[in-house]
Amino acid sequence: MEAYDTIAEEYRDSKRLSFREHVERYTLFEMVGDVRGKRVLDMACGDGFYTRLLKRAGASAVTGVDISAAMIDLADGEERRSPLGCEYVQADAGAFEPAEPVDLVVAAYLLNYAATREQLLRFCRVCHDALRPAGRFVGVNDNVRNPPAPGVSWKMYGLEKSCANPPAEGDVIRYAVTNPDGRRFEFDNFYLRPETYAEAFREAGFQRFRWVDVSLHPAQRGDSFWDDFMTHPPIVAFEASR
Ligand SMILES: C[S@@+](CC[C@H](N)C(=O)[O-])C[C@H]1O[C@@H](n2cnc3c(N)ncnc32)[C@H](O)[C@@H]1O
Repeated sequence: MEAYDTIAEEYRDSKRLSFREHVERYTLFEMVGDVRGKRVLDMACGDGFYTRLLKRAGASAVTGVDISAAMIDLADGEERRSPLGCEYVQADAGAFEPAEPVDLVVAAYLLNYAATREQLLRFCRVCHDALRPAGRFVGVNDNVRNPPAPGVSWKMYGLEKSCANPPAEGDVIRYAVTNPDGRRFEFDNFYLRPETYAEAFREAGFQRFRWVDVSLHPAQRGDSFWDDFMTHPPIVAFEASR
């Protein structure tokens, strides 16, 4: 049984939190750019939320990969209800091999499931090897450059995080999410230093790796509701190319 098997529906519904649309989704699609005609792999696809958006944005083929059977069931169910041509595979992203190279790999919150440098390197290698030469790997992640600290709270955005202060390599980061309907659920990520990420990308063979600060949708800018979130963002984006 995988961790998300017991929280699959709650996790799916957390996409209704405002930060997920106005910051996470906006930033991710700024990084994804024009996907028309591209072959895409969505690693740790969950219930397929971004898999579907990538296909709707014009990708020629999108495969979503997730280790949780319950998350893949949700994704498959949505595909049966409203067919888009997305393909879903239940597999460990650390051991996945696509049938053909892709133009773009997307990973929204996969890498923060690596508890060790070795596991992070495995994820990076799989994503690197899945790409055609010069293909890109983009995603969003737990913001390991801004770990939880006293005085910083994301509760008003539906998100709580706790861990040792400061966190050490491999420490658990406990997330508690409260959905707009009041349902609260928890899951764990792991902390690895930002430098460990940079090393893993380099060792996996990526030419270029950079962290990208998240941005707020232009329509929301100027609303002070976002001040705390954007001053201490709990999530970060990244971009690398093969
Ligand atoms: C925070 S959710 C993100 C889901 C989706 N990307 C999204 O943004 O809605 C993290 C997902 O990572 C998946 N996951 C964790 N470890 C994994 C692994 N080794 N291989 C594939 N998926 C994994 C979980 O099952 C879960 O669905």
